[in-house]
Parts: sequence; structure tokens; C-alpha cells
Amino acid sequence: MANLKLTDVGKAYGGTVEVLKDINLDITTGELIVFVGPSGCGKSTLLRMIAGLEKITSGELQIDGDRMNDVPPAQRGIAMVFQSYALYPHMTVRDNMAFALKLAKKSTEEIDAAVNRAAKVLQLDEYLDRLPKALSGGQRQRVAIGRSIVRDPKVYLFDEPLSNLDASLRVATRIEIAQLKESMPNSTMIYVTHDQVEAMTLASRIVVLANKGIAQVGTPLELYEKPENEFVAQFIGSPAMNLLPGEITGTGPVTRVRVAAGQGEIEAGIPTRDSDMGLKVNVGIRPEDMVQTDAENYAFRGEVEIVEALGEVTQLYFAKESPESASVIGKLPGIHADVRGKTLHMTADPSKVHIFSNGHSLLYRD
Ligand SMILES: Nc1ncnc2c1ncn2[C@@H]1O[C@H](COP(=O)(O)OP(=O)(O)O)[C@@H](O)[C@H]1O
Ligand SMILES: [Mg+2]
Repeated sequence: MANLKLTDVGKAYGGTVEVLKDINLDITTGELIVFVGPSGCGKSTLLRMIAGLEKITSGELQIDGDRMNDVPPAQRGIAMVFQSYALYPHMTVRDNMAFALKLAKKSTEEIDAAVNRAAKVLQLDEYLDRLPKALSGGQRQRVAIGRSIVRDPKVYLFDEPLSNLDASLRVATRIEIAQLKESMPNSTMIYVTHDQVEAMTLASRIVVLANKGIAQVGTPLELYEKPENEFVAQFIGSPAMNLLPGEITGTGPVTRVRVAAGQGEIEAGIPTRDSDMGLKVNVGIRPEDMVQTDAENYAFRGEVEIVEALGEVTQLYFAKESPESASVIGKLPGIHADVRGKTLHMTADPSKVHIFSNGHSLLYRD
């Protein structure tokens, strides 16, 4: 059982290079929180501050109500699993997992019980007497996780644990981690990844980090369906959400936007007030929400320049209006062999249309 509370947490390396500031986050027992964000945004730094491996330079970290800032790592009840799982090559799986408990001078019975329990959870029972070199990459990563489970920590921290594995092993191990979490419903886990699918499938809540702070916190589908800002809108989902510059031409419970530069109009199921008339906005439409329409009712029309046929979907890259404009991407279900070079008219259901003003969604405006 562990609740974590971060209050105005910040980090400046060497006292001057500010990496994170004003991080406020409450994590409840049983959650699996995923930190995502671009490379270098401070994901590992935040995790290491929680573990006690890196000093918190401002703000406070509490675990179950107790201030942790000055508590040494070993006394925080936290176990950390890294990307590079350095197992002891000359020790069996059993001895690798037992090592920390032996150091802590636990009794043989206690150690055996803890190792056997962890091996069962991780389905490593059959491999306990093997050396690491006789294991697959995924099994080795499981042993690394096993070394933390035996200590029965309150909080598990994972820093990109799967990024050294090849694609198919990543998928298998991801599912194992999901099952592991389910078998330990009272454990609290924080998991860093840059892999969207891992974030979407594992997280109870995702924390998107950007620009030294939290861009948004929410369940995976909240972030997908209701991104608070353009950064989250374009970070979650692949290919990224299209952003089309435009201007509000109709207000009320449903908002109309004229898409700029010779394009059409679109409705969004987002309420606006009279004073929003004429407001310059960006219309956000996910590639998978773009649908073909007729020449009267389109929001966007463009010539299909590149077609990516993936079988289950066809991705369409429309020609750019000018070199500096972002390319617009559509994603149509199924196979569309003959669309290259054609001009298509596209729109989207009002419930799938996002509107951003100054980078922020109008949905969240007070
Ligand atoms: N020990 C350090 N000293 C100075 N700067 C560091 C140190 N560790 C990380 N940084 C910087 O802090 C930023 C965040 O790093 P990190 O937390 O590793 O990012 P992420 O894990 O999101 O890729 C980066 O700009 C990195 O260069
Ligand atoms: Mg990192």
C-alpha cells in the first residue's frame, strides 16, 4: 500500500540547470502511472527523485503522508527496474533474485519463500537453477523484476524496462507486466516509456511531461479523446492529430470554423460564446477521424501525394499548400488502391473535432 504526493517538486542540476518545476501529482495505491514525454524532458529525473537517487531541489515528496526528501533510497520502500538489467552472470536465477535478501541477512526460509513466490508470479519457476546466459532477453528482464519483487516494495519504479528488447519480445513482456500488475493489485507502479502503445495499454493514468512541467494527467482515453492542449493532442496518437488553422464563424452549443486558405467549413460539438466570433483557432482532427465527403460539405480538400497501404488501413498524405505548412494525414479503413494523385474532400463528425486557441483546447476553458 502506498500513496505518493508530489507538491511543487522541481529539479535544477548543479543548482542552475532547471529540468523540472512545479510538479504536482497525487498517486493512489494500486495505480500504474506512466510518465511519457519527449526525450530529455525529465522522465528519468522525476523517477530518480522519487527513488531517492537524485536530490529533490524544490518542493516535497510524501509517501503515505511522510516527507521523503531526506530519506535514503533503501528506506523509502521503493524498488527500481532499469532499462539495462545487470544480472550477475555467474549466479543462477535463484541467487540473483535472493541476493538483496541475503545482504539484508534474512533467514534462508524467508529468502526461499520470497524467491519462490516471485518466481511463481513471473513464471520463472522452471528457470531458477539456470544462469542468465541461458535465458532469453524477456526472461532476463523478468529476473530483474523478480529481484525487486522479493523485497516486497511499496512502490515499483520502471525506467523504460522494455526498450532493449526486440519488437515481438516487447509485446510479450508488455502483456506480462500488465498481468503482473493485475496479480499485485495493491502495488503502486510508476512506469517510464516513450512507447505510446505501452503507455496506452498499461497505464491507469498517463502523465505527459513537457516543457519542464506536466502537460496533462489523465486516463489513456481521456488524453486521446480530450487533450487539453496541442502538445498532448499531437503527442498521443499516431500519426499525430492534424491541426488546421482557421477562424470561428459560428458560435453557440455547436461551433463553426472556417478552415483557412481556400478550405471549407466544419462544425465542432464544443460550445462557444458570441464574443468568440472571429477568433483565430486551430482545428484538430485525428487522421483516423477524417472521413470522405462531397464537394459541398468539406472541411479540407487536398491532393493525395503519398499513399501508405497497411492492409487494415490506408494512410493518405495530402500535398502541402506551402512548404512551411504541416502535412495533413488521413487514415481510411481498409484498402484504397486508386487514390494517389486524386483530390479528396474530407470532413469529420462534430464530436471528433477539437478546437485550440493559443495552444489550449476550448473544451477546458472556464
Ligand atoms: N546528472 C545530470 N547533470 C546535468 N544534467 C542532467 C543530468 N541528468 C540529466 N540531465 C539533463 O536533464 C534533462 C532531463 O534528463 P532525463 O531525466 O534523463 O530525461 P528523459 O528521461 O525524459 O529522457 C536532460 O536535458 C538531461 O541532459
Ligand atoms: Mg530517461
